[in-house]
Amino acid sequence: MLGIESSCDETGVAVFEPGRGLLAHALYSQVDLHAEYGGVVPELASRDHVRKLLPLLHQTLDEAGLSARDLGGVAYTSGPGLVGALLVGASVARALAWALEIPAIGVHHMEGHLLAPLLEEPAPGTEPLAPPFVALLVSGGHSMLVGVKAIGEYEILGDTLDDAAGEAFDKTAKLMGLPYPGGPALAKLAESGTPGAFRFSRPMTDRPGLDFSFSGLKTQVLLAWRDSDQSEPTRADVARGFEDAIVETLSIKCRRALAQTGYGKLVIAGGVGANRRLRAALAEAGEREGFRTYFPRLAFCTDNGAMIALAGALRLAAGQVESAEIRVRPRWDLESLPVV
Ligand code: KG4
Ligand code: ZN
Repeated sequence: MLGIESSCDETGVAVFEPGRGLLAHALYSQVDLHAEYGGVVPELASRDHVRKLLPLLHQTLDEAGLSARDLGGVAYTSGPGLVGALLVGASVARALAWALEIPAIGVHHMEGHLLAPLLEEPAPGTEPLAPPFVALLVSGGHSMLVGVKAIGEYEILGDTLDDAAGEAFDKTAKLMGLPYPGGPALAKLAESGTPGAFRFSRPMTDRPGLDFSFSGLKTQVLLAWRDSDQSEPTRADVARGFEDAIVETLSIKCRRALAQTGYGKLVIAGGVGANRRLRAALAEAGEREGFRTYFPRLAFCTDNGAMIALAGALRLAAGQVESAEIRVRPRWDLESLPVV
């Protein structure tokens, strides 16, 4: 199964074979292209996917030692995402499938993220991930807690009322003068900050429920930074205070979701799932409180083709293929998917 991801600013291609695992994957990030604008410019993203997708496709097939004729199906991100960017992946996937007379499967980007831990071999002596589980999906566009009853049967337990967690990282980094994309830069800076030097609130943890709100936190950081001496050590301290607030907020809500559902397993996925302190905090909470944690490797937290190939392979195995039309869904409700 070939997987193509092009929903935002990453072009990802991979080949995943059920039973054999991941045979090859390649990624091209447009980060440098968008950096001078401080955010993703949709039209530039679409054009760059056009430039990069076919070379990446050839590279991935070469690496896997396959020719296009060996493929049994093509999975592509059908939504949610930027419409022009999605259309590039969908058009190439559908054209390829048409020419090769193989099925094509439109995959939900967030389903790809939440199934990404299945790309990893389970550690010796541990069981592979299987539903039911809770998934924390935290990326530039989403902050969600999802109850996964079965593959394809998703219940959104909590969502963000304003900024997504990654967006909060990026915007906060920007207002402290860090380069785009801010999330990883802010996390790096926080490593040298003093814990407790700045303390920000843990939004919405003092009331019941599983929703998030991160925009107020950003304002708190802005005020603290504006009124500070703006020295390098202070910048690191503020970054640390911000990261602590996000990590603790996410951790409180995850544990609440686990208690509410009774599912003893937690998947952490999406770009912010690459955050080392978040991973450490949740792994420790799991050991302390007796739930299992599953993380994709760092490269498969952020957008990639491998998670799309895997999700597509599961749907194809369940006989779920759509009619041969180029269809993208810039907005697509995760709860509306069919069960596998
Ligand atoms: O999943 P992803 O690649 O794209 C979306 O679907 O949005 O996530 C990208 C987001 C960005 O907001 C980025 O700043 C954030 O994930 N991110 C991080 C880290 N690595 C990526 N945020 C915090 N700490 C990190 N280490
Ligand atoms: Zn994503």
